[in-house]
Amino acid sequence: MNDQRLPGTAARPEVAFTFEGRTVTARAGDSLAMALWTVGDVALRQSSRDGAARGVWCNMGICYECLVVVDGVTVRACTTLVRAGMDVRRGGKP
Ligand code: FES
Repeated sequence: MNDQRLPGTAARPEVAFTFEGRTVTARAGDSLAMALWTVGDVALRQSSRDGAARGVWCNMGICYECLVVVDGVTVRACTTLVRAGMDVRRGGKP
């Protein structure tokens, strides 16, 4: 895991989840968006209009560009905290 984080945040416990079937680790309290950004997964869905890759834009829950599917439910990655065992997939639709 890349731990280039704010001082003190590395003390939080690790949390493991899967993204597209691959195990990703983050720190408890991280947003899903930043956990994926940290490991280089920035394309979270495709535009339904032209198929272009979409990802985090506002990082505060307004634009809906970061939609992903967590355990079968479409959510905003930037307003969702990581939790152990969550199954995250690309392709959330607004
Ligand atoms: S990045 Fe804008 S809603 Fe998540």
